[in-house]
Amino acid sequence: MWSLSVVLNPLLFLLLFGYCPSVTIRPKEGWQVYSSAQDADGRCICTVQNMSQSIEVLNLRTQRDFQYIMRMESQIKGLRSKFRQIESDRKTLVNKNFQELKGKMESLQPLIPVLEQYKTDAKLISQFKEEIRNLSGVLMGIQEEMGAYDYEELQQRVLNLENRLRNCMNKLTCGKLMKITGPLTVKTSGTRFGAWMTDPQASPKTNRVWYMDSYTNNKIVKEYKSLADFVAGVESRTYNLPFKWAGTNHVVYNGSLYYNKMQSNIIVRYSFETGRVVTQRALESAGFHNVYPYTWGGFSDIDLMADELGLWAVYATNQNAGNIVISQLNPDTLQILNTWNTEYSKRNAGESFMICGTLYITNSHLTGAKVYYAYSTKTSTYEYTDIPFHNQYFHMSMLDYNARDRTLYGWNNGHQVLFNVTLFHIIKTEDDS
Ligand SMILES: *[C@@H]1O[C@H](CO)[C@@H](O)[C@H](O)[C@H]1NC(C)=O
Ligand SMILES: *[C@@H]1O[C@H](CO)[C@@H](O)[C@H](O)[C@H]1NC(C)=O
Ligand SMILES: *[C@@H]1O[C@H](CO)[C@@H](O)[C@H](O)[C@H]1NC(C)=O
Ligand SMILES: *[C@@H]1O[C@H](CO)[C@@H](O)[C@H](O)[C@H]1NC(C)=O
Repeated sequence: MWSLSVVLNPLLFLLLFGYCPSVTIRPKEGWQVYSSAQDADGRCICTVQNMSQSIEVLNLRTQRDFQYIMRMESQIKGLRSKFRQIESDRKTLVNKNFQELKGKMESLQPLIPVLEQYKTDAKLISQFKEEIRNLSGVLMGIQEEMGAYDYEELQQRVLNLENRLRNCMNKLTCGKLMKITGPLTVKTSGTRFGAWMTDPQASPKTNRVWYMDSYTNNKIVKEYKSLADFVAGVESRTYNLPFKWAGTNHVVYNGSLYYNKMQSNIIVRYSFETGRVVTQRALESAGFHNVYPYTWGGFSDIDLMADELGLWAVYATNQNAGNIVISQLNPDTLQILNTWNTEYSKRNAGESFMICGTLYITNSHLTGAKVYYAYSTKTSTYEYTDIPFHNQYFHMSMLDYNARDRTLYGWNNGHQVLFNVTLFHIIKTEDDS
């Protein structure tokens, strides 16, 4: 049971606020949440704490205002009856006093509709609180019930719950990119061009770092047990890949390295656990070997990336006139699940990264670059954006989003940098997934 309460308490917290569909908030009144950080384990707890804070604040505010309104209401009522009384025998009153009182009364009149509104809000909040209490009870029930299960089953249920929560969290925390802050220079090492990354699917307890220096003619991947080890230069393993890679646009996802085999449009999936290539598949019609690279060249034709929704390949084809094509891939088979054609020329893109199913494209790899274009695979629409970021060391050869950390990993002219992102989203009760 030890681990249960440890696991369940934060989860309880998440579930309560994450269980959005049952909360009766009208669509127009969804919670607006900015999220930009995660807890030490990489989970998005901050966001939820933030949400709960918002709820608390709203609750407090509403309670306070409600009490104020209640007082005002009784005052108005008192005043009104006094007014009536006075009116009935006004002949006996001095006119001046009467006018004064009448003025006061009139100044209070506009408060009445405000009062009505606050009453509605307060009702909403109390409904919300009731839902939370109810869910809390349900969860406690599960926790008690769990005592009766053996450990395996119990763990399965915890995992299950955790998965559902993670999905719910992903939904809650997905949003539109608003701001990029940083960079934080983690380390200075390697050549001007390279890639480094962590696995967004790894368990919260591990944070291995992989390091792939240079964009061509290399097949050595270095592994570090943690970010601290990476900074200190304490390697834990070295992998010798069977094929050399092209570019700097590799990704580690769920224990496998996905990369573009040199001088080909073949995507290789290499398992770190077995040290073997699990799958290889050509990305049909994708340009390669500097046919459609990013602005800096470097055989960066095929960009592999992962986000909250899975694994993606970003590339360009002759059929799409050298413009960027986005394909969602099955991480096991590397088969294309779905494809979107954008109208943004790959050769004019500095870099691109995917957040919550939206591809963000920068306009250059040089100083002054900004996130310039966003393509949503959800709606198959694009928009121009103007989100600056600080290209501190002048040349950006890699920029990739990590959904677990909610950060962008960058290779900035031989410096390994991290950026924080701020996403904006509105949580609605009506399921709009
Ligand atoms: C809540 O969000 C705001 C805005 O993003 C941020 O400034 C603040 O630090 C967050 N608070 C916590 C506890 O994460
Ligand atoms: C509380 O939960 C129970 C069981 O899930 C459900 O039947 C009931 O309608 C809920 N009550 C409210 C007020 O949501
Ligand atoms: C990650 O890999 C495990 C097995 O190693 C598999 O069960 C799981 O479905 C994979 N997750 C994703 C998101 O592909
Ligand atoms: C991102 O934000 C977190 C929480 O505010 C902070 O601890 C971290 O240092 C930031 N990272 C970067 C790269 O700015």
